[in-house]
Amino acid sequence: KQTKGKGIAEIAGIPLMADTVDNWSQIQTFKAKPDDLLICTYPKSGTTWIQEIVDMIEQNGDVEKCQRALIQHRHPFIEWARPPQPSGVDKANEMPAPRTLKTHLPTQLLPPSFWTSNCKFIYVARNAKDCMVSYYHFYRMSQLLPDPRTWDEYFEFFINGKVNWGSWFDHVRGWWEIRDRHQILFLFYEDMKRDPKHEIRKVMQFMGKNLDETVLDKIVQETSFEKMKENPMTNRSTVPKSILDQSISSFMRKGTVGDWKNHFTVAQNERFDEIYRQKMKGTSINFCMEL
Ligand code: PPS
Repeated sequence: KQTKGKGIAEIAGIPLMADTVDNWSQIQTFKAKPDDLLICTYPKSGTTWIQEIVDMIEQNGDVEKCQRALIQHRHPFIEWARPPQPSGVDKANEMPAPRTLKTHLPTQLLPPSFWTSNCKFIYVARNAKDCMVSYYHFYRMSQLLPDPRTWDEYFEFFINGKVNWGSWFDHVRGWWEIRDRHQILFLFYEDMKRDPKHEIRKVMQFMGKNLDETVLDKIVQETSFEKMKENPMTNRSTVPKSILDQSISSFMRKGTVGDWKNHFTVAQNERFDEIYRQKMKGTSINFCMEL
């Protein structure tokens, strides 16, 4: 695969798109507002899903209103930069309040104004193994990211944090450890799959909204994997093939829990579990890894 764009660079040891690194001063000086809601995830953890849920709640379940723009345009992606297009920060600056924004940044790289302006954060964590698999297929189709090479080679990159936005372990730990110090709603992809209505209700309460049961049921339906896979506003089908080649894999690929079992060898799984134990030692976070 021939990578387009400027490739990858680093900030404080975290691999990021080179265009993001070039734009770092604009990102770090971004001025958050107290009524901002920031959606935070490690890549491939259900970002688009929670974005659509948040927007459906914001629009009181009005599907037409959620069709007003592509999901990636409704919620500016703070660290996104690809000149000469407006950056994520440019788009956020133009957006009227209250804003919902997106980031994949680990806590230590977040623009400081997010902490000082006391905004709300929704963090979604997905189990490491499924995240790793989903990210592998994304690396294969993204024409802006380097070739992931073979699954076995990619496995090493991922466990060593040599993928964009760095180590899954550090990212999830970092956000988990500060969850009580800020207004952070910490959610799990697996819970959203198991009982979407329950998790959607939590999001609604966190956003300070009160919607009828029928509206909640509608949101559950409209944000199902099947619906979002068919929805051109959420499935990235309008992104040019030169950036995201969905003939290689789909952005809305499987949307399931446990697909790692189709990718990991027994030896890789044992090794991964050992690394997981080491890296997550001392944290109270509890992922069921035997999904
Ligand atoms: S990104 O590029 O980081 O913003 O990607 P992100 O949206 O975080 O993750 C994409 C994965 O989420 C799955 N997905 C869903 N799962 C369940 N329900 C819904 N509605 C849904 N929408 C997106 C998507 O299929 C990707 O996971 P995989 O395992 O690759 O299918």
